[in-house]
Amino acid sequence: MAKNPSWILKSYATGMPSPDNWVLEDLSMPEVGDGELLIKTMWLSVDPYMRGRISPAKNYAAGIPLGGLMTGGGIGEVVVSNSPDFQQGDVVISDYFGWQAFTTVPVASAKIVDTKQAPVQAALSYLGMPGLTAYFSLLKTGAAKEGETVLISAASGAVGQIAGQIARIKGFDPVAIAGTDAKVEWCKELGYRTGINHRTSTDLVADVAAACPNGVDVFLDNTAGPIHDAAMLNLNTFGRVAVVGTIALADKFDQPDVGLRHLRQTLITRARIEGFLLDDFEADYDAALVDLSSWYEQGVLQTREDVAQGIEAAPYAFVRMLKGENFGKQLVEL
Ligand SMILES: NC(=O)c1ccc[n+]([C@@H]2O[C@H](COP(=O)([O-])OP(=O)(O)OC[C@H]3O[C@@H](n4cnc5c(N)ncnc54)[C@H](OP(=O)(O)O)[C@@H]3O)[C@@H](O)[C@H]2O)c1
Repeated sequence: MAKNPSWILKSYATGMPSPDNWVLEDLSMPEVGDGELLIKTMWLSVDPYMRGRISPAKNYAAGIPLGGLMTGGGIGEVVVSNSPDFQQGDVVISDYFGWQAFTTVPVASAKIVDTKQAPVQAALSYLGMPGLTAYFSLLKTGAAKEGETVLISAASGAVGQIAGQIARIKGFDPVAIAGTDAKVEWCKELGYRTGINHRTSTDLVADVAAACPNGVDVFLDNTAGPIHDAAMLNLNTFGRVAVVGTIALADKFDQPDVGLRHLRQTLITRARIEGFLLDDFEADYDAALVDLSSWYEQGVLQTREDVAQGIEAAPYAFVRMLKGENFGKQLVEL
């Protein structure tokens, strides 16, 4: 019988997750039900949103039950198709891959990946969720305009690296916040005007003020926490804050998010602070992908990946990303 190593959620994470929250089990080959595809996994994406899936806390999407198969976005090759729309050998992407070598996905969730346009894993980075998140959070929710200062946290990561480059392409003034000097330097190579290392800064409010002498017009908040506070205290009149992610709370997930209160600051600046969820922009994905792929083809959009090898690596790759040890889009290649 075929071996199928699969990661099963053993315990909910309290504080920072650890690979011990999962156990690697050797399951048999999955049964392919009606409306499903059997896939040989090629790439898995590990993403910050998965922190919410391994907690019993209330979230915008249901979590993984204890004893359940860990799931997430992935790319793989169709082995068995129960749909006329997919053939054996097609390469497909879905948000519903199990963390396993062979997995089944609902046909309705699967899309064929154009293997000639770009390396297939691009569909999990700049031509997928992170690229689209950067695009819509900056241009729609942030509504950045030419010449405006755009502060971006987790600036070298999967979303941040694309957001900074779109900002440069569009004539905004992008400023990076990242967690190592090497990441800050790379952000500058991408076109960020300057950057701040939030892990060595002793006064983030002052450092943001120095890096943004004209104030912050748009803040792409990929992190929350003290970086959010520093941005709020430097926000311009009619500034916009796109709350994209809260990864700084990954080790405090089950606690109330208590920090400074920014109500007076919001009143004074008449700022707009808006939560962002990519799914809300689905109707416009195709148009955004035309822009992203044409920038890539023109050579004005670079991308950096951080690739872990083998199904055994999946939870380790996820935890290192939560701790900021990834440099670029964290992927797992099988
Ligand atoms: N709302 C949506 O629809 C949506 C969609 C996609 C992504 N997101 C969000 O976008 C954010 C970025 O996601 P990504 O996939 O691009 O991840 P990523 O930036 O590639 O990786 C996560 C990064 O977060 C930073 N980080 C970790 N702990 C931190 C802390 N305590 N304070 C500050 N920074 C910390 C680390 O970078 P440093 O080394 O620079 O600290 C780490 O590399 C996440 O919050 C994610 O949830 C939201």
